[in-house]
Amino acid sequence: MSPPCPSGPDQLPAWRRLGHLARDVGHAPAAREVFARRVGPLFADYSKERINGRVCQALVELATESGLPAAIAGLFAGARVNATEGRAALHTELRKPAGEAKAKVRRERERFLRFAEELRAGRCRGRTGERIRAVVHVGIGGSHLGPALALDALGAGDGPEVRFLANVDGAAVERALAGLQPATTLVIVASKSFGTLETRVNAETLRRWFLPLGGGADAVGCHFAAVTGNAAAARDFGVPPERLFPLWDWVGGRFSLWSAVGLPVATVLGRKAFEEMLAGARLMDTHFASAPLPENLPVMLALLQIWNTNFLGATSHAVLPYDHRLRLLPAYLQQLEMESNGKSVRLDSQPTATHTAPVVWGGEETGGQHAFHQLLHQGTRAFSADFIVCARPRHDLPAHHEWLVANCLAQSKALAEGRGAESPHKRVRGGHPSTTLLLDALTPESFGALLALYEHKVFAAGAIWRINSFDQWGVEAGKALAATIHEQLLGGDAPEQDASTRALLRELRRLG
Ligand code: F6P
Repeated sequence: MSPPCPSGPDQLPAWRRLGHLARDVGHAPAAREVFARRVGPLFADYSKERINGRVCQALVELATESGLPAAIAGLFAGARVNATEGRAALHTELRKPAGEAKAKVRRERERFLRFAEELRAGRCRGRTGERIRAVVHVGIGGSHLGPALALDALGAGDGPEVRFLANVDGAAVERALAGLQPATTLVIVASKSFGTLETRVNAETLRRWFLPLGGGADAVGCHFAAVTGNAAAARDFGVPPERLFPLWDWVGGRFSLWSAVGLPVATVLGRKAFEEMLAGARLMDTHFASAPLPENLPVMLALLQIWNTNFLGATSHAVLPYDHRLRLLPAYLQQLEMESNGKSVRLDSQPTATHTAPVVWGGEETGGQHAFHQLLHQGTRAFSADFIVCARPRHDLPAHHEWLVANCLAQSKALAEGRGAESPHKRVRGGHPSTTLLLDALTPESFGALLALYEHKVFAAGAIWRINSFDQWGVEAGKALAATIHEQLLGGDAPEQDASTRALLRELRRLG
């Protein structure tokens, strides 16, 4: 096993080899050769990437020379991979079955799953004794995107209605509460820090919403639960200990769906489906931890991202789900990929000499075909794409699924091969690399495996780029600025502000 690469990946022999290969690989994806792999319920076809056998071999050599196997082993063993915060990243622990999980993980999982069962069964009652019929999940970023995606993807169950409130915009609060009654509503505040501005402001507004029920602290106790790493702040807010579920510091927000942050998912879909989701992720964990590099799907997807980004000039990566139920996947992956690997400083505190994460974007298909695909086919930018589609739909309506799948395959083919035409206006250049992820069907298990695939891809790419995929100091800078501007908006002086901010503040005060 190679020791970890001491500096940047660009110093490695494989990186130089890849540079030469990139000049020879040509415009069109290989496609004559099949590059595909199955892991449980997922089949990944990357034959439409711009690769050939020699590129694949050099990419695997890059992973080896980067010390990736040791980095993967370290991740699972609890090494402090989040070096700037001195923390491990052990979200994989949350997916272990009862027989293997740490005692505290097992105990807390049991607690929140039992609470979810109470809610589902209608045994949870509010201050007036009425049954809880609706749950408002308050949280943002990693405390929101995972459960929102999971519920949208896996469909309605038979538990209480669940709504999400993330944005600090009062319009979002009004929409989240429309038609709900305080007496029959429970609020889950999900926040690792219990200090995030949006969540704090929204939670306080909701606490006031319960005032008409009377009972002060008692009402808060009856109508709030919290998932947090800051138990003291949640207790001060009024959440009773029996409704407090921990989020350990070794679970990053964007990797937290598997913890009690997934409470709304368990509440709607039930314990069995939640455990199947964990089992799907666990299947991918086992694969990632043990499969040889060339057969390791998260590793291969990471290497392809590096190939596309650092060697073929892709600046963005499109996530194109051909499945209405996965329409929130692009937003989820934006956080996962860009918050994790949008970094320009390496673990050794030196600036990266290479690009890191591309801009990740995308949208539900086939809608995008009638909107942004024009740029994909005939624009000037280099990009890569993931197509995601299911072999079996959940519905049995005739015609729809076949058309959906046909469009998926047609678009990836057109992006790869292009299309000749007499007129330059009609010509489609092609040469755009993509991978297609085919799920047997969208089930809790395949969904868990899909998300874990992306989590591990992100870690593997970050490890090769030698960056910390688990911190997010950049977002902290914006938070500090917002606090100052908020004060100035309320009337404070703003002499040190730039001219643009000063002018906007003046106009806002005049209009407000
Ligand atoms: O601002 C970014 C961020 O810290 C994310 O990393 C995180 O998922 C989100 O805010 C919410 O944080 P918290 O769970 O602490 O409220």
